[in-house]
Amino acid sequence: MSTKLNWIRDELASLKQQNLYNTIRTIDSPQGAWIVVDGKRVLNFCSNNYLGLANDARLKQAAHDAIEKFGVGPAAVRSIAGTLSLHNELEKRLAEFKGVEATISFQSGFNSNGAALPALVGKEDVIFSDELNHASIIDGARLSGAKIVRYAHNDAEDLEHRILETGDYRRALIVTDGVFSMDGDIAPLPQIVEVAERHDLMLMVDDAHGEGVLGRGGRGIVDHFGMHGRVDVEVGTMSKAFGVVGGYVAGKREIVEWLRQRGRPFLFSSAVPAADAAACIAAVDILEESTALVERLWDNARYFKTEMQRLGFDTGASETPITPVMLGDAQLAQNFSRALFENEVFAMAIKYPTVPQGKARIRVMISAAHEREDLDKGLEVFGKVGREMEVIQ
Ligand SMILES: Cc1ncc(COP(=O)(O)O)c(C=O)c1O
Repeated sequence: MSTKLNWIRDELASLKQQNLYNTIRTIDSPQGAWIVVDGKRVLNFCSNNYLGLANDARLKQAAHDAIEKFGVGPAAVRSIAGTLSLHNELEKRLAEFKGVEATISFQSGFNSNGAALPALVGKEDVIFSDELNHASIIDGARLSGAKIVRYAHNDAEDLEHRILETGDYRRALIVTDGVFSMDGDIAPLPQIVEVAERHDLMLMVDDAHGEGVLGRGGRGIVDHFGMHGRVDVEVGTMSKAFGVVGGYVAGKREIVEWLRQRGRPFLFSSAVPAADAAACIAAVDILEESTALVERLWDNARYFKTEMQRLGFDTGASETPITPVMLGDAQLAQNFSRALFENEVFAMAIKYPTVPQGKARIRVMISAAHEREDLDKGLEVFGKVGREMEVIQ
C-alpha cells in the first residue's frame, strides 16, 4: 500500500490536536447584518463588507445587466484575447476615485501584490517590509526573489535604521499594509513617506482595509494623510468595502504601463467576469455620489467600540472599524467564539499563527449594514459570554 501521502494525514491530525485546524463554516444567504451560517441565522460580525455593498440592489442590477450584454466568462486573458470595455472603464473610474494617474485591475488583492512586487524588484534588489504585513505581500515579496528586510511594526525609525545598515543593492522598495487587518491600526504613512523620500526609495501601500473606510468618502489611506503623489504604488481590493471581488494597483502611468507588460497575473490569468467588473463600477458610483455609508460605518464603529470598552473589554490598538477583542489564550478565544455562536453572534477567534502566541482574540468587523439594534444585540451577547467566562466582571 502506498504511504506517500501519510505525511498529510499526520499533519492534519497534528493541526486538530493543537486546536489549529481551520473549520470552514457554510453560508446560505446573501451577505448582510444577519446571515445564515451552517443553517442558523446569526448576527454577522465576520465579514469585510464594510459598507454593506455585497448585497446592494444597485450592484446586483449592474451585474445582471452586464451578464445580459457580455455573458458570464471572460474566455481568455486580457493581453491575448482583448480586454472588456468594462475593465477599461473600471480602471478609469478607480483612477479618478483614488486621485492617481492610472490603475490596472487584477483578479484579487492577493494577485495584485503578486503582480506588483515581482514586477518592480528582483534578485539584485531589496524589499523593506513591515513585520506584520499581509500574507499576499509576503508571498509577492518572496516571488520577486529580492532580499527581504523586515522592520519593526509601524516603526519608521527602525525602517530608516534597516535602510542605513543594508548594504549594496540596485533598487529598493518599502512596503506596508495601510490598515493592519488583525489589529485595526494604521501605518504611520507621513513618517514612512519621509523616510522613502530621504533615501529615494519606491514606496508601496496595500490599502485593502483602508479604501471605503479612510479618507474623504473612503478614498483610502493616502487621502486620509493628504499624501497624494508621494506614494508610488497603492494596492487595492474590490472584495471588502466595494463588496465584490477583484484587486488593482494604482499609481503613476508608467508603473501601470509596466504592469501591463510584466504583471504575471495580468498576462497569464483571466480577468474577473463582466458581472463583477460592472458591480465594481456601480460601487464606485455609490462612493462618489455620497459619503453617507462611510459616515454610518464610522458611527457604528465608534458606538460599538466605546460600549465594548465600557463593558470592560480590551479592544487593543484599533483605530478603525476592525475591532479586536483581546483575550490572550487561544483556547479561551475558541470557546468564546463558540459561545457567541450559540447565542446567535458570528465572530471568529483569531489565533496563532495568524497573530502571535498569547495574543488570541475575537475579531469583530463592524459594517454600515448594522442597525443600532444589531450592535446592541452584539453588545448584550458579548457582555453575557464575557461574564460567564470571567473575561469581564
Ligand atoms: C492587506 C490585504 N491585502 C490583500 C488582501 C487580499 O485581498 P483579496 O481578498 O482581494 O485577495 C487582503 C485580504 O484579506 C488584505 O487584508
